[in-house]
Amino acid sequence: MTVLIAPSILNADFAHLADEVAAVAGADWLHVDVMDNHFVPNLTLGLPVVQSLAKVTDLPLDCHLMIEDPNRWAVGYAEAGAHNVTVHAEAVADPIAMAADLHAAGARAGLSLKPGTPLEAWTDVLKHYDTLLVMTVEPGFGGQAFMADMMDKVRTARRLVDTGHLTVVVQVDGGISADTIEIAAEAGADCFVAGSAVYSAADPALAVARLRAAAER
Ligand code: DX5
Ligand code: ZN
Repeated sequence: MTVLIAPSILNADFAHLADEVAAVAGADWLHVDVMDNHFVPNLTLGLPVVQSLAKVTDLPLDCHLMIEDPNRWAVGYAEAGAHNVTVHAEAVADPIAMAADLHAAGARAGLSLKPGTPLEAWTDVLKHYDTLLVMTVEPGFGGQAFMADMMDKVRTARRLVDTGHLTVVVQVDGGISADTIEIAAEAGADCFVAGSAVYSAADPALAVARLRAAAER
């Protein structure tokens, strides 16, 4: 399985964003957390920042929309050049139409589940998506502890993807470090978002390499 490492810029220095992004050029995707202070109790960045990021990096942008009204905004992120746009299952009105709209705009479609959201209700729509994000913390903030009890959901997701011959990437986000990434990889995840483990490290490039090595073990 190809491992994808996706540093989250949530913990980066926003005053030097281009440099922070350049420092993780060896990663696979760049994870961009969009929060609206409604779906989650935090406010981060929006479309103008993504449009600017697209101009300064070749890394595929992975936009994680933690917002209340993804139907209004998601396609805009695709049009801004995002490679993958993930919406939350809890917020999306018509998940199949959402995926189709993202595809029409040239992006991969991602569906994210908060820790309390069971996968079972979403198995039928999974085939319309390219990425399934299993949150391993409550969305909203970086630096929280990895929820190992989400690994059952990851295992079920992996089984659904494999038995259904789907090409869905199983992504985990929250508390991923050199220690926890092995647990998530073992459970069947193949895309790993890491914020503080990368940007709180003295050498972010080395942190990415270490995460990759641990995930591939
Ligand atoms: C949390 C965000 C994450 C966050 C992860 O709601 O979705 O992407 O940046 O941060 P760490 O890796 O520090 O848990
Ligand atoms: Zn995220």
